[in-house]
Amino acid sequence: YKEQTSLIMIFGATGDLANRKLYPSLYRLFRKGLLSERFAVIGVARRPLTNEQFQENVKNSVLEAKETGNNIEEFASHFYYHSHDVTDSGSYTVLKRMAEDLDNQYGLGGNRIFYLAMAPEFFGTIALHLKSDGLTDVPGFKRLVIEKPFGHDLASAVELNEKIRKAFSEDEIYRIDHYLGKQMVQNIEVIRFANALFEPLWNNRYISNIQVTSSETLGVEERGRYYENSGALRDMVQNHMLQMVALLAMEPPIKLTTDEIRSEKIRVFRSLREIEGDEVAKYFVRGQYGAGEMNGLPVPAYRDEPMVDPHSNTETYVAGKLMIDNARWAGVPFYIRTGKRLGAKSTKIVVQFKDIPMNLYYQPNKPLNPNLLVIHIQPEEGITLHLNAKKAGQGMDATEVKLSFANTSVNEMNTPEAYELLLYDCMRGDATNFAHWDEVALSWSFVDKISDYWESTKEESFPNYAPGSRGPEAAEQLLEKDGFFWWRVR
Ligand code: BG6
Repeated sequence: YKEQTSLIMIFGATGDLANRKLYPSLYRLFRKGLLSERFAVIGVARRPLTNEQFQENVKNSVLEAKETGNNIEEFASHFYYHSHDVTDSGSYTVLKRMAEDLDNQYGLGGNRIFYLAMAPEFFGTIALHLKSDGLTDVPGFKRLVIEKPFGHDLASAVELNEKIRKAFSEDEIYRIDHYLGKQMVQNIEVIRFANALFEPLWNNRYISNIQVTSSETLGVEERGRYYENSGALRDMVQNHMLQMVALLAMEPPIKLTTDEIRSEKIRVFRSLREIEGDEVAKYFVRGQYGAGEMNGLPVPAYRDEPMVDPHSNTETYVAGKLMIDNARWAGVPFYIRTGKRLGAKSTKIVVQFKDIPMNLYYQPNKPLNPNLLVIHIQPEEGITLHLNAKKAGQGMDATEVKLSFANTSVNEMNTPEAYELLLYDCMRGDATNFAHWDEVALSWSFVDKISDYWESTKEESFPNYAPGSRGPEAAEQLLEKDGFFWWRVR
């Protein structure tokens, strides 16, 4: 690993994401010696702040992230602030001069990263100004890092993409999906492609179904305004859930290069069976949480959250069955589910293998347990393999045993870890763990058909699940009708 040199401009520098994720992540890179002396950050946001005030904010967010604080003064001295008006060319001109000065001062070689960590309505405007006001005119590299949401549907995503493509080429655009920065999400490929035990079995001859669950205990919090127009489908399925499915389902790439991996993922999205109109009800279930209790404390219904319509039709839960119509996966359902205000904060993948052709250990009322491979993404990180072995004692009865590997690293959720990896990838120009435009476009076109149907049909059963529960009843039936159930594994 090499030290990286660049000027990083963070738009939205006073926002939540910057404070909670980006500054602690940059600090960790700095502490590990991955950011050299030759780096500088310009925080860009509307409110007026001095450099000193901004540096104080940065130090506070690092300390709040429970970092040790070694060399924090030195770290913070690389941060500068620009109070910005996103629509005013004059403001970009000032920013440009500031960037040039820092470039000289720190010897940054004209390398620039523009990180848009702010309200998406300005993404296009900023990208266009960066070009027209000369900020992208640099001798080094220029890269755009863009947070979600990348559009609201395919049409708005296309429109946004056209704007940013006027200033940056596809390989200069880093579309963040923070799930791709999670250790165990990155591990999916390694588990699959580095194990003789799995790769030969990874297909419809041996796998019966795959279940991907990402559940949250928090409600919509302060994000009602955004979430009302998004819902769980756009917020989680279009990006994180489909990305995990793509990694589970893709063909082995010829090489581990960005282009090869992305093109295999794109082929998965192209093979997703399209679901539209009345079919949606057969494949997808939506839910919305009602009022109730969590940990003994009352919590409001989604419809009573701030900035939410009291008659809202927005889903806070989605379960779905995806079919990947290609030779490897024909007939194997990929079930996904995600929702807010559920019983646990947990993301995991369960791969259920088919039963062996003849069960010698069959006992009435006690079928053999299928083999399961569980990939624990968070809060625990690890892998568990469920096997059958002989029960201790007399006789030859089979019983389930579990082989577990637990990653000993951090077990906090949504840790800066993911951002730390992704920021570093961006600095060294590796876009593998970012979403390519084709992935974004194909996943929107899949999701749009579902949201079209949901928006045209009001869900009379809302609210249909209680806080702290496992979600709506219909999500259980989705699997039951195929003869499966959601595995409750630890
Ligand atoms: C974000 C969504 O992309 O992912 C949030 O906008 C969600 O609504 C979050 O809470 C979940 O991320 P994590 O890393 O906590 O699973």
